[in-house]
Amino acid sequence: MDRGGTDSPSSLHRGERSVSRSVLALCGLAVFACFVAAASALYGQSRPGLKPVQAFDQIRDPRVRSGALFNEAAKVFRHPRCTNCHTVSDRPRQGDRSRPHQPPVVRGAKGFGIPSLRCASCHLNRNNPAARIPGGPNWHMPPANMAFHGRTAAQICRSIKRVAVTRKLPLAALVAHSRKDHLVIWAWRPGKHRQPPPGTHKSFVDLMAAWVATGGHCP
Ligand code: HEC
Ligand code: HEC
Repeated sequence: MDRGGTDSPSSLHRGERSVSRSVLALCGLAVFACFVAAASALYGQSRPGLKPVQAFDQIRDPRVRSGALFNEAAKVFRHPRCTNCHTVSDRPRQGDRSRPHQPPVVRGAKGFGIPSLRCASCHLNRNNPAARIPGGPNWHMPPANMAFHGRTAAQICRSIKRVAVTRKLPLAALVAHSRKDHLVIWAWRPGKHRQPPPGTHKSFVDLMAAWVATGGHCP
């Protein structure tokens, strides 16, 4: 830049221009690098999986094996796709970071919101990619005694068993719910702006079935 001390205004300007060009080029590179990193984080990485049921075969004690199976299934229960509806408070949560639902909506008497702001005013029975609003049949919040958000695997296990007892349902009903419920199934088809829970829907159902078959013990 400094050409033998000839600090004529024009040479200075040329210098500034080339500096700003290289700064621009660097910025461009940085933006590109970020873009590549984000894209590979979103699409390139393999998603976390679930261990198959057979991975627990070597645990001899059926009680311990049962607890370990539930622990694995709990990777799904504790995922934002499930916890965003299964919250402790009256307000659902959103996104992979589980921030409180915007606009602020509440559960209402039966989980479908309050009359002036029903879930179905925005959530259709399928995803709406244009508006980025997820959706599924009968989109609504579970009662507060079915909360998973912020709970450990052991707490979730005890809680779903308690609900089954209260409703006089066998534990097998939880396997059926895991297999057939549309909102559970939705979690693995959440639309492209959201990550599905670990593993496949089938591997989750298999773990739940094996958990019940081994006595439904909690970790
Ligand atoms: C859109 C909201 C929504 C999402 C998302 C959702 N659920 Fe639920 N879930 C519900 C509602 C509502 C009920 C209550 C149904 C009832 O009253 O019988 C429920 C009930 C359950 C129950 C029975 C709970 C109990 O204590 O007996 C289980 C198990 C369950 N969901 C698992 C899941 C899992 C696993 C996922 C994620 C893969 C999930 N849910 C995602 C709304 C949701
Ligand atoms: C005024 C419109 C509106 C109403 C009413 C509404 N929602 Fe939403 N909801 C949205 C929008 C928009 C998003 C997507 C936000 C995002 O992820 O960027 C969303 C996202 C969600 C998610 C996040 C899913 C995920 O895993 O990321 C859940 C859960 C949810 N809503 C539950 C409910 C429930 C339950 C009700 C009724 C009590 C309800 N919403 C009412 C607009 C609404």
